[in-house]
Amino acid sequence: MKIQSDYSLKPYNTFGIDVKAKLFVSFGSVKELQDLLQMPELKQEQKLVLGGGSNVLFTKDFDGVALLNAIKGIEVLREDEQYVYVKAGSGEVWHDFVIYTLQHNWGGVENLSLIPGTVGAAPLQNIGAYGVELKDVFHELEAVHLETGELHTFDNDTCQFGYRESVFKNKLKGQYIVTGVTFKLHKEHHINTSYGAIKTTLEEMRVQNPTIQDVSAAVCHIRSSKLPDPKKIGNAGSFFKNPEISLTQFERLKAQFPDIPSYRVTETTVKVPAGWLIEQCAWKGKVLGNYGVHKNQALVLVNYGGAKGEEVRQLAYDIIASVEEKFGIRLTPEVNIM
Ligand code: EPU
Repeated sequence: MKIQSDYSLKPYNTFGIDVKAKLFVSFGSVKELQDLLQMPELKQEQKLVLGGGSNVLFTKDFDGVALLNAIKGIEVLREDEQYVYVKAGSGEVWHDFVIYTLQHNWGGVENLSLIPGTVGAAPLQNIGAYGVELKDVFHELEAVHLETGELHTFDNDTCQFGYRESVFKNKLKGQYIVTGVTFKLHKEHHINTSYGAIKTTLEEMRVQNPTIQDVSAAVCHIRSSKLPDPKKIGNAGSFFKNPEISLTQFERLKAQFPDIPSYRVTETTVKVPAGWLIEQCAWKGKVLGNYGVHKNQALVLVNYGGAKGEEVRQLAYDIIASVEEKFGIRLTPEVNIM
């Protein structure tokens, strides 16, 4: 647990933004983390937890201690006829965990294949893709309180999951570090191909009765054709959330823009894909020097190498302004801007 100074965070954010943390240290267990939190030289410092860094845009150096989560390990806690309860260390890479579940033939996270980031970051924003959200397979998590060092347990209710939301992005923001997550995975699989693109891809793959492994392969295929690989081009996935608007506002827009896509959320609200709105404002594929908007998915902002966080943030603000002007809808970032 060596504390380092003036440490570059470039390898620890998928946007690949080169900012520095005043102090940097990694921890590999709950005990190590608790010991770090007690150290007098760290006690007063602001704290930033680094998981996969897949949902953050750094716009300036961090004046505090960056804590790299390196808690590993996957274990079965218990099982019954229907479920297996599997606990994973929060520093495990999310997709490695998905592969592990597929190898053991446990169902539930196959639709969430290839999402960048770590197991510990997944519940913070209730990651979701292709008709499944983390909360659907979540059992509980353990997290250390930054002030007291105590280990607390949170279940589905106390996590207060919503669309890309949890209590850790709201009321408890910055107060806890997730150390382990327990999933409730299915022994008997519930294949979910409700999302159109999965169905089409499986048909193209000529798969008739898909297994969880087939669904994962389809999801990996769709993601890699639409979304840039952060190992090659810096990005943090969807930069904005898909906005939810009233049915009345939607009907007004539909009269003006007959092709506008939508998903019904409640009796009176619909969700509109932000990617479509941004594309209509002619941002898709826009290159501004070494950063821009991805050519296959307008929801994704990209750093081609060497971009500054403030530049990407300004691009996000410009996109928000033009979408608001054209559609009267104000987009909100999904990514944490720091
Ligand atoms: N669309 C456009 N132009 C674009 C992008 C999308 O017109 O540039 C249209 C598509 O044609 C389609 C609709 O928007 O009609 C939806 O597109 P897509 O299936 O790509 O999904 P999304 O709503 O844009 C969401 C998630 C993704 C997730 C996919 C699949 C959010 C903010 N994003 O994107 O999540 O992978 O659904 O479930 O909810 C992430 O959070 O980082 C992420 C990638």
